Formats: sequence, C-alpha cells, structure tokens
Amino acid sequence: MRIDAVTLFPGMIDAPLSESIVGRARQEGFLELGFSNPRDFTEDRHRTVDDKPYGGGTGMVMMAEPVYRALKKVGKKGSYVILLTPKGRPFDQKLAQALSKKKHLVFICGHYEGIDERITPLADLELSIGDYVLTGGEPAAVAVIDAVTRLIPGVLRKDDATVNETFTDGLLEAPHYTRPAVWRGKKVPEALVSGNHRLIAEWRRAQAEALTGKARPDLAPERAKPARKRKQILD
Ligand code: ADE
Repeated sequence: MRIDAVTLFPGMIDAPLSESIVGRARQEGFLELGFSNPRDFTEDRHRTVDDKPYGGGTGMVMMAEPVYRALKKVGKKGSYVILLTPKGRPFDQKLAQALSKKKHLVFICGHYEGIDERITPLADLELSIGDYVLTGGEPAAVAVIDAVTRLIPGVLRKDDATVNETFTDGLLEAPHYTRPAVWRGKKVPEALVSGNHRLIAEWRRAQAEALTGKARPDLAPERAKPARKRKQILD
C-alpha cells in the first residue's frame, strides 16, 4: 500500500512511524509512506501557508492554494483522500479494515485553526480520531496509519494476531498473562493454566463479554453480560 500525507510537519508523522512494527513494514515494502508539504508550493518570499480568517476571530487558517497544489502533487486517479478533522466521522476498527484494502491513501493534515473550507470537497472522507482537539491532523494521521498498516496482510508475523483481538468481533479482548504463574502473590487464572483448550476459549469468551458489559456496553449491547452476572465474574 502507498500512503501520502499532505502536511506542514512531515517529521511529526515520519518519526513515530519509523519505529516498531510500522517501521519494519516500511522497510520491508508493505507500506510506502510519502509526504507533500504545502510550504513547498508557495510562491512568496516568506513561503506563507496561512492567513487571517475572513469575518474575524482568533488563530490562522491554512490557505487553500498551497494545500491544493501539495495534494495534486501526490493524488492520482483512484487515490482515496482523507481530511483529518475533529468534525469528521469517528474512526473505528471497521473503517481501519476498509482502509487497509485501498491501494493509495492520501491524508490531509490541517494545522492552526483548520484549512480553508474550499478544500473539503476534494476529500472522499472527513475523519476524526475522537472528541478532542489536537494541535493538528498529524497525530491523528499517525494513529490511523498505524491501525491500517497492521492490517495489511503479512505485516503482523502471526497471522491470527488480528483475528481474536479487541473490536474484531465487537467485544473487548480478554486479559492476557505471561510467566511467572504467580507474580507478587497474584496468580494467573486457573482456566489459562489448565491446558484445556475448550475451557480456555470459554473463559476468554466470558471475560470478553463481562469486560465489554462493564467498560463499553455500547459496543455490543445484545452480547455484553448484564450487570449482575458481571459482578460475579469480576469482583
Ligand atoms: N485534528 C485536530 N483534532 C483532530 C481529531 N480529534 N481527529 C482528527 N483530526 C484532528
């Protein structure tokens, strides 16, 4: 897959996505990540990318033309263009799965108070990573690119690592434990050390339902255990 980011601050995306699994995915060619900086498409001496908002107000607005040119540089026919904004559709695992099947994604990252509204129609999707305001779209792009990249076939060595995980089947994932079996007096749950695969699967399912019912009942209201049963399991 290829991903390009239209950003004034490519380092904010390039650096975190050079580490760990995504860094390896880039080295191994699963992900090609490129950048297009609106500042490189200005024509004035000061390389101006922002200006005061019409109608007044605080902050600066990114000008349409440098963003437009930076986008044209990387966008091709068939590219899927995503504008990151807190006003967008909330990002979730389902969307990550859909995006992981695209050939080319282009992320437009706003900064300052946002981008001139006339850029919005150039995007296929306006996307938010949550109900809070970041300093710009870059940290949001990092989160989305990370979630998408790990779903590209071959990126995770253990293929089944994404099958049983949190959100994939609509539930939060059961807790994990590793050695030692007793740590500072705390034991690993019996079922997990039983060696009985059916028992382990049942325990995990019950934990996932209980956890979802307690922490995120909105995720699967029909499957999450009601409060009473939950109490027996967790307390
Ligand atoms: N830009 C600023 N805040 C954002 C958010 N929550 N999601 C996506 N882009 C943003």
